[in-house]
Order: sequence, then structure tokens, then C-alpha cells
Amino acid sequence: MTEKTNWWKNAVIYQIYPRSFQDSDGDGIGDLKGIIGRLDYLQKLGIDAIWLSPVCKSPQDDNGYDISDYRDIDPMFGTLSDMEELIAEAKKRNIRILLDLVLNHSSDEHFWFKEAKKSRENPYHDYYVWRDGKEGELPNDMKACFGGSCWEWVPELSQYYFHQFSVKQPDLNWENPKLRQEIYDMINWWIDKGVGGFRLDVIDQIAKEPDQKITNNGPRLHEYIRELSKNTFQRADLITVGEAWGADTERAKLYSAPDGSEFSMVFQFEHICLDQIPGKEKWDLAPLELVKFKKVMEKWQHELQGCGWNSLFWNNHDLPRIVSRWGNDKEYRQESAKMLAIVLHGMQGTPYVYQGEELGMTNAEAFTMDDYRDIETLNMYRDRKAAGYEECDIMKSLHAKSRDNARTPMHWDDSKNAGFTTGESWIPVNPNYVQINAAQELSDPDSVFHTYRKLIALRKQYPVFIDGDFTLLYPEDADLFVYTRQNEKEKLIVIANFHGNTVDMPKVEGVREAELLCSSYADVDRDAKVLRPYEARMYRIG
Ligand code: GLC
Repeated sequence: MTEKTNWWKNAVIYQIYPRSFQDSDGDGIGDLKGIIGRLDYLQKLGIDAIWLSPVCKSPQDDNGYDISDYRDIDPMFGTLSDMEELIAEAKKRNIRILLDLVLNHSSDEHFWFKEAKKSRENPYHDYYVWRDGKEGELPNDMKACFGGSCWEWVPELSQYYFHQFSVKQPDLNWENPKLRQEIYDMINWWIDKGVGGFRLDVIDQIAKEPDQKITNNGPRLHEYIRELSKNTFQRADLITVGEAWGADTERAKLYSAPDGSEFSMVFQFEHICLDQIPGKEKWDLAPLELVKFKKVMEKWQHELQGCGWNSLFWNNHDLPRIVSRWGNDKEYRQESAKMLAIVLHGMQGTPYVYQGEELGMTNAEAFTMDDYRDIETLNMYRDRKAAGYEECDIMKSLHAKSRDNARTPMHWDDSKNAGFTTGESWIPVNPNYVQINAAQELSDPDSVFHTYRKLIALRKQYPVFIDGDFTLLYPEDADLFVYTRQNEKEKLIVIANFHGNTVDMPKVEGVREAELLCSSYADVDRDAKVLRPYEARMYRIG
């Protein structure tokens, strides 16, 4: 593999959810200038790239995942020149800016859709997906991801349009070559502005075939992606990552083929969907079974070795905070947050750190319905109420899985509003910012922050993190997560107690003489007979 295709393999990507990261003008919403002011913090953490959730012009029905102008910045986040400044300032610190490309749908306020709605003959009409029909007789019973039907009636045209998300997010028609060309032109315009790559939102859903009720993995999916990649990404040296909820390992190998025909890597969710009742929705909670979880991780590590590339993540703006989810956000918050970081960062793939994860930020456990803002959350509440669910069950699901858990403002310090804004925050700040914040984490050498910083630096220091073969040990153990990574020269050993009880120390060859790289407790007794709650150690032999 050439240097060009390889360099990003030891990169670590930090995700910023702009509206909650740093406000610079007191309107209670984070913005680009706010991010610029925090670049030094990110440089200290050691990350290589920032994935920016969407900042383009948008009516914000889905917090920016509904774009009304792909070539302009929403005034709430700043201006195009702020974006240029962010790209330039980040570059000075060797940080790339990755834009979030939402190409499955646009906003209904996009010029294309406004035109498309004017008449069936309008040149933009075919940029979207329409079906003839009668009012009240839906083309079929497909449901949208945010609840309700996938079909919305437009009386002027006597047609329905198709939307996989909200009614304000009409699906784009990728079968139309003109639409595809417009998208390539837009992407190339951003490449010329110096962005360092892209995250492709729900890219597995672009090749929909609604008449066959196909949403993701449509028959023309990889044809479209290859054409997209050839006409855009392959012109430059970029990091690209495709979000694909429906990817199995075979498809993942296509998305992340080493020949660069599609993306650099895939972002798939199999591991992170295991704590729900199979076949049900994410709200239908089930405990995580560690043995099953380890099998899934092992499968992905083995299957993509040498022929694909995965993303490693616990968190993003759609997922709850990992320390609240699979750690213990009370008495073992620090230990469990560090354990989870160690387990993840020792694997093969590109790690993603979602803002605040490096501080061990927690879910919004005290939120009431007045506090939630997310469209998915509000619609779920409405639909489950109507379906007769108990209020307390609905709230239990939301406290566990609402997307707003991860969208509360970043905790910078213990001043008012956690240093996020001088105004009134668009969503409540988690009151535990007084204890959990960046200023505090930076000043404590054993903090969660410094554990992430260390892990990020280690990944750059030792090639075994990138190319080592993965072997899972103790696969049937219900508490331990133990694995090794090995290449010709070095071996990495990760030993973790995934739970809050004490467990016998596993026997792993070579640990006695190995160098301890990182641990979730500051004091490590090499002769200990047990691992403490959430104790994790990372060793290296080489
Ligand atoms: C992706 C985004 C999510 C958004 C959806 C529709 O899954 O991560 O936030 O709501 O796509 O664009």
C-alpha cells in the first residue's frame, strides 16, 4: 500500500457537534468561531482530524441534517469566511476538517425541492422521489425513521414524495444523473476550499427502491458510491468515511476496499446495537451480553484484516454516552471511562472520540420532556404515548437512548453554563459540569482526558496498533475482555474487567516482562491476584 492510502490509518478523529461545542457570541448555540477558539485544546489531545456535524444552511428540523444550501454556512454557526478560517487555523495545527455530507436527502427548503414541487415538468422535479396517487391512499406502508409514513402528499401535483427521515427531509433521487453531477460539483467545490475529508451520512440509503420497499443496500448502491468517489474524493488526499447502519462485513470490505474505489473506511453499528431486544427498536432495552459483544468485535477485527478498514467508536451525536451506557457513571466513572477507552483504542481501525467522551461526560439523566429537543425523541414520545406505553417506560427508554444524551453542551470549566455560553443554552447543560469539566481533567495527570491523550499518542508510536493481528482470549468469560495484537516485531496485550465486580486475574503469557503502556487505575500491582472493578491494563512486548 502506498503512503498516500496509508497515512490515515493511525489517525484519530474527533467529532464536534457544533451547536453544543462552544458558543462565541452569547446566543446559546455553538459556532465556528467557538471551535476556532478551542483548537489548541484539541491539539493537546493529539487528534488528527475533526468531523464536523453539519454546519451548512438549514432550517434545523434535524439539527442540520436537513440542508437547504450545501454551499453556504448557516448564520447560526457563522459565515463561509469563518469556515475558511477554521480550515486554515486547524491546518496550522495539523488538524483536518472533515465535513458531514448529507446526500440521501436535502431540506424541503432547498431550492431544488422548492422548484421540484412547482410542477411535474420542472427540471428539478426528478431530483426527488415521487409516486402518483390519491390523497389518503399511500403508495405503500413504509415507515420513516422518525415515525409516521415515508410518503407525504403534495396536493398541487397529486403526488407523494418519499422521505426516509422527517417530512422536511425529502429523499434525493440518485437515479437522476443530473442530480449526481450537481452533488459532485458541490463536493469538488468544498475540496477546493481545502477540507480534509468527508463523513457520508446514511450513505447506505441513497440507492432506495421504494416500490420494492428497499431502503438501505439497494441494488445500485456500490455503483453510485464508486462513481461518486471517482468524480470527487479520488482527486485529492482525503479521509472519507461512510455511515452504514446496514453494513455486514462483506459490504464493509467494498466500502473500505484498499484500492480506494469507495471510501477510506466504514462506520458500522453492529457492536453498538447489542443492548436492545433483537428485532425491536433501540428503545426496547436489553442488557449487554459481554460474550456476544466480544464475538462481534472479534468478527470485525478478523474479517477486515488486510482487506478493509473499520471505524472504532463508542459514541456519536446519535448515541448515548458510553460511560453511562456500559460503564458506571457514579462511583467508577473515571475507571470505567478509562477502561472503555483502553479496550477500544487497542483494536484495529480508526478511533473516533466524540466531544466530551474524553472527559467522561455522562447522559442527561434528569431530563424531562421539557428538556428534550431532538426530533426523533419528540416523535418517539408522541408515538409511544399514542400506542399506550406507560410514561415511566417511555422515560426509561429516553434516559437510556435519547440522542439528546450526547447533545448537551460541552463542559469546559465550572463557571456558569460550563463555560459553553454566556447566554442561555439551547438545551440544558448537564448539572454535573461542576465536577466533570475540561479544566479539571487537564489539571489531573490521571484523568480520563490524559488517558485518551496517551492512547492517541501510543497509536502513533507503535505500528502494532495499525497492523497487528487480533486474537481474543477468554472468549467465554462473562466479565473479562482480553485480547492481543501481534505483528512480526511487537505484541500488544489488553486485559480488562468490563464489569463492576472483582475478577480473578487472567493468565496471559508474557505479561510479567511486558511494558505497561496504560491502565485505568493509577496504581498497578503486577502481583495482584484480581482485577478491580473496571480495571484495564494495556501492555506491550517488543
Ligand atoms: C444520520 C445522522 C443523524 C440524522 C440522520 C438523517 O444517521 O447521524 O443524526 O438524523 O442521519 O440525516
